[in-house]
Amino acid sequence: MCGIIGYVGKKQALPIVMNGLKRMEYRGYDSAGIAIVENRSLEIIKEAGKLGELEKLVDGVQLHGTVGMGHTRWATHGVPNKTNAHPHTGESGNFAVIHNGIIENYASLKIELESKGHTFHTDTDTETVVHLVEEFYEANHDFEKAVREALYCITGAYGFVFLCRHEPDKIIAARQGSPLVLGYGKDEFFVASDASAIVTHTRQVTFMDDHEMAILSPRGIKITTIDNQPVVKKVEEITYDISQIEKSGYAHFMLKEIFEQPSTILDSMRGRTVPDDGLPRLGGLAEHMDTLAKAKKIIFIACGTSWHAALVGEYMLEEFARINVEVEYASEFRYRNPIIEKNTVVFVISQSGETADTLAAMREAKRRGAAVFGICNVVGSSIARESDAGVYIHAGPEIGVASTKAFTSQLTVIALITLLFARLRNMSAVEGKQIIEELLAIPEKVKSILTNSDYIREIAETYMDKRNFLYLGRGYNFPVALEGALKLKEISYIHAEGYPAAEMKHGPIALIDDDMPTVIIAPKDAIYDKVMSNLEEVKARGGKIIAITTEGNNEINEKADHVIYIPKTHDFLSPILAVIPLQLLSYHMAVLRGCNVDQPRNLAKSVTVE
Ligand code: G6P
Repeated sequence: MCGIIGYVGKKQALPIVMNGLKRMEYRGYDSAGIAIVENRSLEIIKEAGKLGELEKLVDGVQLHGTVGMGHTRWATHGVPNKTNAHPHTGESGNFAVIHNGIIENYASLKIELESKGHTFHTDTDTETVVHLVEEFYEANHDFEKAVREALYCITGAYGFVFLCRHEPDKIIAARQGSPLVLGYGKDEFFVASDASAIVTHTRQVTFMDDHEMAILSPRGIKITTIDNQPVVKKVEEITYDISQIEKSGYAHFMLKEIFEQPSTILDSMRGRTVPDDGLPRLGGLAEHMDTLAKAKKIIFIACGTSWHAALVGEYMLEEFARINVEVEYASEFRYRNPIIEKNTVVFVISQSGETADTLAAMREAKRRGAAVFGICNVVGSSIARESDAGVYIHAGPEIGVASTKAFTSQLTVIALITLLFARLRNMSAVEGKQIIEELLAIPEKVKSILTNSDYIREIAETYMDKRNFLYLGRGYNFPVALEGALKLKEISYIHAEGYPAAEMKHGPIALIDDDMPTVIIAPKDAIYDKVMSNLEEVKARGGKIIAITTEGNNEINEKADHVIYIPKTHDFLSPILAVIPLQLLSYHMAVLRGCNVDQPRNLAKSVTVE
């Protein structure tokens, strides 16, 4: 989604702003722009396409101003062209705004403003706000006041940053629904939609909350509510290493993140197990053990890949904790009339912790009285802060739009949560201990799967021109089939469907021929024989088969066209292993097809609009 950066200080703003935009490229965008305050005028440069296009325009331009802002746009209202790119200015050119979010009442505001003589130049919802600010400024000649009054008129979600030619050393930021972080440097201050945009300058940050406004100047940052009540906030330290947001020699972030998984999975459980007692140690949930012990039902709420992790969680919790579990798409949950009974516990899963649908669904669950816990990666994110408590997955920044390491860390944390519930109920310490031992062995097993990357690339070469794929799995690996198919769609633009293997005969079987490869996840588990029957059904219809199975299972060689082996593990942990070859398969496929792996078309990393 849109990236935002703003700077006030003593240095030239332009390189800082451009660098910040580069750091946020991973979020997904289709045009970009900057505004620099230069000798009491606002210099705006913007362009459609990737940052390289904007860089061409900026290159050689002499802009020395020390106050500025930049934006990468992910189009919602209006096509992604130069005109619709942010920043937007009004009639006078005295103000500029950048925006992440959607102004829902923009159409009526626009009509009103047009009736007052304003002319609109773009198709965006955002342009209305800069006209509003102009209108209010006319009346009182006070930038801050004009912004507040404009905000009162707006319905919708926003992270805004404003500049004003008349008050050239000031930036005003406001948040309602779209994340903004403030950065404190030495005589310089930052605002960004994403800490990675500013982490090379400062690690001291404050996360803005909804209904807050921040006024940045070279003298400091003043934070108030939109109604101008003073707000005192904690300054926090960003702890991650800069190398975590760089490629470190890998061709793509996605590949780096796939290869990081042995350590990120370990990080997700570091210090969180007590093997001798067969217990997990989840500090974030410690104060809520009563609530968890009384839980009669668990609801998982998530989107995308996180939703697939939730599905695996459903299987895990039902098997080991014997508890009712529901898995909900956040976007559906929020507009239904969900039943939240006493002792319902909601787990909200979100890598970014900012997905608009997930956040809204979480608030709805809270309103209906559920205890709400977050499973997030991004520290300090909205979901992490607004949930009653939670567990960070500690996978480190995930830059590739297609989620990989966050998924396996989510599964690891969900396995620990399963263990927690199971031990609260019926699981013995001995069984708990065995599970922990197996969990701790997972990172080494992932490492061994990664050595197959070249072999998987060869498989990708064979199938790179196919237009459709089917992914089949059963039990714990049905969600993995969904995730494998999603990965392929997302980054290689090949149509792929994930299906429960046995359900194939109720429809997708009609599609099978030698032009539609099937990826079948068939570890040697409790339902292996059943999955093999489904494999035979594909084979009988001339389908090509890529099978994922357990090391030592040689019989499958005769049936499948390609076999990728994964080490043996507990059935319920097999998704963590089985997904790795599928991540690699989609990665290689996308690279071979010349796709932009880290920033696939139309997708955004953190979807902060509905
Ligand atoms: C977007 C991303 C997906 C991600 C989903 C949910 O669609 O492209 O990779 O799984 O959002 O994101 P979250 O941050 O809530 O896990």
